[in-house]
Amino acid sequence: MKAISIAEYGGLEVLELTDQPKPPINADQVLVAVKTASVNPIDWRIRSGGLARFIDCDFPVILGREVAGVVAEVGAEVSQFAIGDEVFGFLQQTDMKWGSYAEFVPADAHKLAIKPADLSFEQAVAIPVAFHTAQQALFKHGGLQSGQTVLIHAAAGAVGSMAVQLAHQAGATVLATASANNHDYVLGLGADRVMDYHQPDFGDQLKAEYPEGAVVIVAPFAGQSLQGSEPLVSTNTRIVLLSPVANPADMKIGPVESEIMICQADGAALGEVAGHFASGELKMEVAQVFSLEQAAEAQQLSATEHVRGKIVIKVSD
Ligand SMILES: NC(=O)c1ccc[n+]([C@@H]2O[C@H](COP(=O)([O-])OP(=O)(O)OC[C@H]3O[C@@H](n4cnc5c(N)ncnc54)[C@H](OP(=O)(O)O)[C@@H]3O)[C@@H](O)[C@H]2O)c1
Repeated sequence: MKAISIAEYGGLEVLELTDQPKPPINADQVLVAVKTASVNPIDWRIRSGGLARFIDCDFPVILGREVAGVVAEVGAEVSQFAIGDEVFGFLQQTDMKWGSYAEFVPADAHKLAIKPADLSFEQAVAIPVAFHTAQQALFKHGGLQSGQTVLIHAAAGAVGSMAVQLAHQAGATVLATASANNHDYVLGLGADRVMDYHQPDFGDQLKAEYPEGAVVIVAPFAGQSLQGSEPLVSTNTRIVLLSPVANPADMKIGPVESEIMICQADGAALGEVAGHFASGELKMEVAQVFSLEQAAEAQQLSATEHVRGKIVIKVSD
């Protein structure tokens, strides 16, 4: 099968279009004929070797941790899917070998959901990681409830834009940060107030307007945006951080230690929410669609870290 693989860690140049064997599946897996893959920041961090301590790579490795496609083979213990089903999901491989930048990918059945017919493969593949991460950060780890105030950083990014919508729909007051060019976009998603995190006093300004501070802070990045949140932090605030930090001191904001969260694939939860995306009640902007051969360009764009929405790779028609 056609795939974008890497034979070693490195820069964009290690991404190669190669011919790979069709992957085997376990009894609890299905083989998905890939229509679309997505690009997540973790893809280029794995490629560079930056995550070698956490994720083993069995070279040659095919990258890609989200998929939308059609079930092509079904493992002996899988009862919920049949050949021909249109599915999507977060693959959450523990080690990297078989990813979705390829014509076929194995997937644990419990991580997948049926794709609604009126959701395109491009739209569907943009959803799983952003949805699981935002939902688990806000509610499972943050414990956010209706009427409470949440601060969401990187609100124009994939995870942030999803978090703004979910928090707004849950009845929270949503404060958000983004670069100035993204403010109208973030307000359109349901934020009550948006600030530029580059402005050193954004936290003081928010505190003046929302003296109750924030009960939950979702921070996709450590650093200036998170540190600047301090005026909104009290001992009751839960800070959910989505990136590992180089310096543990960066995790303490005022009196509160941030919790690092790793999102978990959950096909059942994805299945429950899928209809809301199909109806347009929830949306995930697709920033750009690339061909499989353009995987390096797609990763280069992701690595700018200023993309609005999700980058998609179209593998087959
Ligand atoms: N722990 C987990 O399980 C998990 C899951 C998913 C993602 N993540 C991590 O969460 C982060 C965001 O993921 P994503 O998929 O949403 O990425 P993304 O779509 O590429 O996020 C891009 C957004 O981040 C904002 N941004 C860039 N640098 C920033 C900074 N230093 N401070 C604040 N905002 C900044 C940009 O905002 P402006 O353009 O408006 O400046 C842009 O809108 C990544 O680091 C990713 O690895 C972690």
